[in-house]
Order: sequence, then structure tokens, then C-alpha cells
Amino acid sequence: MTFVLVCPACGMEYRPPKGKEERYACDCGSVLLVEWPKPKWAPKGRGVWRYKSLLPFTGKPATMGEGGTGLVNARELIGEYTVKELRFKTEGDNPTDSFKDRGTTVCMSRALKKGFKRVSVASTGNMGASVASYAAFANLEARVFVPKGIPDEKIAQMIAVGAKLHKVKGTFRDAVDAMLLDVKKGSYLCETGLNPYYLEGEKTIGFELYEEMGVPDRIVVPTGTGGLITSIYKAFKELKRAGKTRKLPQMVAVQAKRCSPIVDAWRKGTEKVKEPKKANTIASAIMVKSPFNGVTALRAIDESGGCAIGVTETAIKHAIRELGREGIFAEPASAAALAAMHELRHKKTDKVALIITGHGLKDPAAFLG
Ligand SMILES: Cc1ncc(COP(=O)(O)O)c(C=O)c1O
Ligand SMILES: [Zn+2]
Repeated sequence: MTFVLVCPACGMEYRPPKGKEERYACDCGSVLLVEWPKPKWAPKGRGVWRYKSLLPFTGKPATMGEGGTGLVNARELIGEYTVKELRFKTEGDNPTDSFKDRGTTVCMSRALKKGFKRVSVASTGNMGASVASYAAFANLEARVFVPKGIPDEKIAQMIAVGAKLHKVKGTFRDAVDAMLLDVKKGSYLCETGLNPYYLEGEKTIGFELYEEMGVPDRIVVPTGTGGLITSIYKAFKELKRAGKTRKLPQMVAVQAKRCSPIVDAWRKGTEKVKEPKKANTIASAIMVKSPFNGVTALRAIDESGGCAIGVTETAIKHAIRELGREGIFAEPASAAALAAMHELRHKKTDKVALIITGHGLKDPAAFLG
């Protein structure tokens, strides 16, 4: 296991810190990404830790059995699109019902090994629920900072496992600022966009897709901070460098039209992601006005020849019902992936994977209301 930390903004490289210290960001202020100079593909076992040779942790991980989620083959909906294969990666199968557990197991393992007693996270809901559960499992204290508008179900998930909840006035960004003050006082920073190790866990979605269906022609990803789409593309680039494939998938980012800073930047052809003035969508999990991984998300889209799509509230609600025809219940942010399918033109030979990031029971009111 040899990796370095690389800054996507200025190119600076860092060795991972040893002992009790942890490095999260570049000195220039940018987020960092983990890079594997010689990626070693050696899958063994099951779930996220099947890919240990490409995960930044050695030793016994804090695992609750995350990963190894379903890949449902569309049978009802396949006729509506000119594609050969349409698959849904059902991330609601994870221990806390969203893909976040994949990153949390890596961060929690590192926090434990480094001797931290407390972890902190700001969240639009799913990440807080995930970090709270894993912290309880690992016997660490969890502090979760949330903005307004998080579904009660996700708040309940956090409280039930004993997390300390901080309700912050304002947006997700305000919650992050409050959380960062807490990190200065000695918490482990467990944030998707700000902790490079988090994305390493999330990228295992890409590895599973590769093993289950080969390299898809397109992967459609609900996008908030831009971390998930960055990490899945990263997985395929590592597979390519490990000599496992020559092909890379086209990456498609989906956001709600009512909060779509990455879509807007992509349309304008700029890496400067501008905060929208207002944001208000039923897809609360991807309601992120200032995405930390926006630049790397835009690069994944452009490098892969993909695109970014904004979807309406009506289309999201309709997509929840449509997924129901396949027996899948998805939360609004996740259903956004299917809503985007109508905007995409495919070839008959295309293999497409949609990431259904979180379970519908996390926000039933959005569907019933
Ligand atoms: C259900 C769901 N889908 C998609 C996302 C988007 O992931 P990212 O913020 O890494 O872009 C999130 C993030 O919280 C989420 O909870
Ligand atoms: Zn930098």
C-alpha cells in the first residue's frame, strides 16, 4: 500500500502523515486526492474491503459490512430507452441505507488507528447518519452539524445511535464552517469533500461495477459536493493504470435544477463553480450550493466526454414512481439519476449504470407529500 496525496489545484504532492497526525488539505487551501503511483488490483473477500490493495488503510478496519450492494437489471424500464443494458446500483443496501458507508468505514478506521476519540461531520443527512452509526460501532463520540431541511428520518438515524446533533442556522456551507471549528478542538474530520480518504472508500462502487458488468459506457451519478462522481471516475482510471481496461466510462452528473452549480459551470465551460443565490429542492441530499469537489467533478465529466444535467422537481417525483416499477424505492436525490435518462441520447449498444445512492425510506414524505 503506497500512496501519496496530490493537490488537484496546484499539483503539490504530500506523503501521508504517520502516527497521530492527519493531513486533509493542501497548503494552498484546496482539497487533496489520494494517488496510487502503481495501482495494484488484487480483489479478495467481499464488500468495500475486497479492494484493500487500493484503500489507504492497513490493519483491522472498522467495518459494518458495507459495499457488495445490488446491481438490479432493468426489465420494466429498459424498453423506454435505446440501450442494451440498464442497471441500478442499489446503494440503499448499505448498513445505514446510503453509499456514504463506503467512505465512512475508511475514515473511521483511520480515526481509530490514529487514536482520535471524537469525529465531526457536516451533512445534508446521509453522511451524518453514516458517521454517527460507525462512530457508535467504533466507540467514538460523533458530532454532526446539519443545516435546516433535513428529513426527520435521517435526524432519527443520528440520534438513535447517540450522536451529538448541532442544528446550524443557514446552509450546508454554514454547517461546514461550524464543524471545522470543532475539528480545530481535536475532532477527526470525517467529511466527503474535505477528507481525501473518504473518496477512496466511495470509489469502490466503480470497482464493483467493473467486476459485475465490465466498464459501462455511461455512469449516471446524482451530484452534490461532486465527491461521488470524482471517486467513481477515479476507480476506472486506476483500473486502466493497473492494466485491467483501456476503456473509461462517460461520467454524467445530475443535479436538481433548483440547486445546480456544477451543471451551470459545465454549461459555461468554466471550472469556476458559482454559488446559486437560492436553493430549494426535494432532493435535499444533493442541495449543496458550494461543492468542495466541484473542480474534480467537472474534470471527470469533461475528460470522459460526459455531461451534466439539471432535472426538475416534477421529473424527480416521477422518477421515484418509475423506479418503483423495478421494485426499487429511492430517495429523491437518487431518483434524479433516472430523471436524467430522458435527457440523454444513447446508442442501442450502450451499457448504462445508474447510481441509486440512498433508500426511499430515508425521506418518504418527499414521495407521499
Ligand atoms: C443520496 C445522495 N445522493 C447523492 C449524493 C451526492 O454525493 P456527492 O456530495 O459526493 O456529490 C449525496 C450526498 O450527500 C447523497 O446523500
Ligand atoms: Zn494545492
